[in-house]
Amino acid sequence: MSVLTDVTRTDLNTVVGTELPDTDLRGLDDDGIDAISQLVAERGVIFFRNQKMTLTEQVEFGARLGELHVHPAAKAPDGFPEVLLVHTDENSKFTAGDGWHTDVSCDARPPGLSMLRIEQTPPTGGDTMWSSMYEAFETLSTSMQEYLLTLTAVHRGDVAYRGRYSARKDDVEYPVSEHPVVRTHPRTGRRALYVNSGFTDKIKQLTRKESDALLAMLYDHIAYGVRFQVRFHWEPDSVAIWDNRCVQHHASWDYFPETRHGYRVTTVGEAPYLEI
Ligand code: SIN
Repeated sequence: MSVLTDVTRTDLNTVVGTELPDTDLRGLDDDGIDAISQLVAERGVIFFRNQKMTLTEQVEFGARLGELHVHPAAKAPDGFPEVLLVHTDENSKFTAGDGWHTDVSCDARPPGLSMLRIEQTPPTGGDTMWSSMYEAFETLSTSMQEYLLTLTAVHRGDVAYRGRYSARKDDVEYPVSEHPVVRTHPRTGRRALYVNSGFTDKIKQLTRKESDALLAMLYDHIAYGVRFQVRFHWEPDSVAIWDNRCVQHHASWDYFPETRHGYRVTTVGEAPYLEI
């Protein structure tokens, strides 16, 4: 299959999230892969059902989306350094992604696309939510938008990771990077808000107090912006592919003590930039 216009496409609302119920990811040719990257840049996140595949096939598919990322903190499954295990059960002390965030924004070249495949779902719950950062930016006042365009934020890995991943010692140096508070998406040219409660520590140009107040306002705007969010209910072998440049996501741990199990592969993106 070469173009995604050939397949059934269901937009889950007007701004973010599209389901492609009839697409077999492993059957896509190069044009199909490019169409996926374009669609996810426009819609933020896209969903597929019934994608039975091995870990090797998932890694091979992910590598067609771009250079694969190695997580700076989590221990990978044996033999698969580019895979992030997403597993929560009755012994878990936390679940990955349980808060609004973009993936690993502490990296100098943070993730572009993430592909999460869930193999085992809990009997109920375990949904994930995504929020459009295009819309989060565009629904702010013009004055606030113009101000945010002048700012840079510091993103720190230890905000998210310290004490979490027991495979790594807490004296490890996690990445720290500075990125524009608003970034331009290289495919769509649209501007997206790029601060998140998972990794962003401080707005560089502001005092700590000013920065905390501005970030709290923006995080509230993201969390309460239900008209630019989408919620996905997983079935075994569902896949979500999202573009970290223009969405944040939030896993929902509402199924304890049940088990949810899957794998994520992620591509390395470009250093975020803002075109004025
Ligand atoms: C993640 O943050 O990548 C995990 C999301 C999820 O488990 O739904």
